[in-house]
Amino acid sequence: MAAASAPGKLILFGEHAVVFGEPAIAMAVSARFGIEGTPGSALTIDGAPPDPERHRYILKAMEHHWDGGPLTLTTRSAIPDSAGLGSSAAVSVATLALLSSFSTPKEPPALAEAGYRVELQVQGRASPIDTSTAVHGQAIFVDSRRGDDLLWSIEGLGNVWHVHHVDLPELSLVVGETGIHAHTGPLVDGVRRLVERDAEAAAAVEAIGDISREGRLALAEGDWVRTGELMDRNQKLLETLQVSHPTLDKLIAKAREHAYGAKLTGAGGGGSMVALTDQPETVADDLRAIGAHVHMVRSEPLGVQVEA
Ligand code: MEV
Repeated sequence: MAAASAPGKLILFGEHAVVFGEPAIAMAVSARFGIEGTPGSALTIDGAPPDPERHRYILKAMEHHWDGGPLTLTTRSAIPDSAGLGSSAAVSVATLALLSSFSTPKEPPALAEAGYRVELQVQGRASPIDTSTAVHGQAIFVDSRRGDDLLWSIEGLGNVWHVHHVDLPELSLVVGETGIHAHTGPLVDGVRRLVERDAEAAAAVEAIGDISREGRLALAEGDWVRTGELMDRNQKLLETLQVSHPTLDKLIAKAREHAYGAKLTGAGGGGSMVALTDQPETVADDLRAIGAHVHMVRSEPLGVQVEA
């Protein structure tokens, strides 16, 4: 028997713009996806034959990275599905780590590369931010420029993404789930189509890149007021990219009553929002009162883990 797990993630700045090569910052969160595997007589996942839609990331990982016999796979997840919290990336990365542990374990850069290819193939368009966070844990800054603390570089969609480790200070973040499930692939493709025909949307992508660069500095200085302002500006630009949702807007407005700033996190279209606050209990209660499912989020030091 072998087992592997990987964390979910939260994007602090730069989602969607990162697909166009603009910088972005993400941190791993303490909710993890885990998968166990033993040789079996036919491929099963959680006691049944695989479901082509529900298990598409596991199946895509197996298609390209498994030439052994049938496996009996068992999964467990604390990361909500289609909520903008990186469940598909954690599934892809943990599955690849599990599969490679049966022969030659992949090192983190190879896992990050393979995880990105799985997401790209399933979603059609993607950046490596979610999968790299699932591999590294902690927090990362992704940029088309190479800087200090480089972890690895990944090419795709005509971009080179340089993935860097960043030290984040202890942050007090509250995540509110809308409960509206949204698929990342169609949202990312919708932004591509919008940017191709609308100059304001194209300018929004660049402006988000500037915010991520500034956000990195504000975070490093522990300047929560500035960080919050930048989160609010990032949200406005995501609205220009048409990836927000009335329920997200409602949760964000409520959270801002006691937060430095708030924005959607991940692909949007529903999913989740995040608030930076020094009154986490108040923000959590306020969000619950209007129907959100709430998580108090801590940064997760551990990236992908394999237990042989
Ligand atoms: C989704 O978590 C983040 C997006 O930027 C898509 C991606 O980077 O692949 C929306």
